[in-house]
Amino acid sequence: MQINGKTFRTIWFDEKDQVVKIIDQTKLPHKFEVKNLKTVKDTINAIKIMEVRGAPLIGATAAYGIVLAVAENNNPGFIKKSSEDLIKSRPTAINLKWAVNRMLKKLLVVNNNEVLKIALEEAKLICEEDVKFCKNIGLNGLKIIEEIYNKKKDTVNILTHCNAGWLATIDWGTATSPIYHAHKKGIKVHVWVDETRPRNQGAFLTSFELNEEGVPNTIIADNAGGILMQKGEVDMCIVGTDRTIATGDVANKIGTYLKALAAKDNNVPFYVALPSSTIDWKTQDLKNIPIEERNSEELSYVEGLDESNNIKKILIYPKKSKAMNLAFDVTPAKYITGLITEKGVCEASKEGLKKLFK
Ligand code: MRU
Repeated sequence: MQINGKTFRTIWFDEKDQVVKIIDQTKLPHKFEVKNLKTVKDTINAIKIMEVRGAPLIGATAAYGIVLAVAENNNPGFIKKSSEDLIKSRPTAINLKWAVNRMLKKLLVVNNNEVLKIALEEAKLICEEDVKFCKNIGLNGLKIIEEIYNKKKDTVNILTHCNAGWLATIDWGTATSPIYHAHKKGIKVHVWVDETRPRNQGAFLTSFELNEEGVPNTIIADNAGGILMQKGEVDMCIVGTDRTIATGDVANKIGTYLKALAAKDNNVPFYVALPSSTIDWKTQDLKNIPIEERNSEELSYVEGLDESNNIKKILIYPKKSKAMNLAFDVTPAKYITGLITEKGVCEASKEGLKKLFK
């Protein structure tokens, strides 16, 4: 997708310098910086401090992390420890484990002379597949937007939470892909962008990327969705997910569950968009999804531009106050209208998922 009229992906391998390049998302929207990752440690750090974030993108970064580990020291002990550290770098998104295990499985049967080449090919393939899957999610979700547009014959208002845009994937995004496809097709869409405290992925990233693509959008406080739904200002919700379990229950950014409850109460369709790499087929009980708890300073401090255009971090809470920062919640399947995947749209249930993914 576009930044400043130039086409980018979120991650790529620089053959000349043999480094992994990423867009440093901690600097957006105020600064656009491309950063080099040279070691597996760099990739782990980039995932932990959220220079890269979003389930599919951290999966792809972990795959490249394995490539860098192999290049550094192709010793079984080092690769094992690197894999464990990559998987542990963020707990909720299943894509990390999925990507690392896929890389390890591939490398198991490869001889030493070609291990680096094969690792790099597999990491690139993971990225290419994600682009294809996200594009198809868009085409499948487009049909739902088109249906609403054909009935309403006016702008379709879509609410989204967090950033499940192209910045969270390699290209297209998950929740935003149907929106980009609709916009490109000339269907009038407008996006209500939840700010998404505390890291503000909606305000900093979703709004930024929609602006760059020329998609009309408005940032709202996280708690504004309910009243907008009551006023009939939301035609549908589309969110992403970091882990969808076998039962169709969905872990996503904190606050998603409350949006789903409000949507149910107001008969607003609530869709979740995901590639199959985000499905955790083994977990059957939503209570077993690990929920990441992050540093409470993400809540008590805010960061932004000061009058001199410098990025500044300031404390907004009373110095003595304690804060707690859970990063994800789980939306039970019963509140979800449908899962939009690369293979089609299905019911959020064991049966629905099985029908699509045998
Ligand atoms: O903490 P983040 O920014 O990594 O959380 C990302 C989200 O919750 C996204 O909505 C989710 O990963 C889907 S990404 C396509």
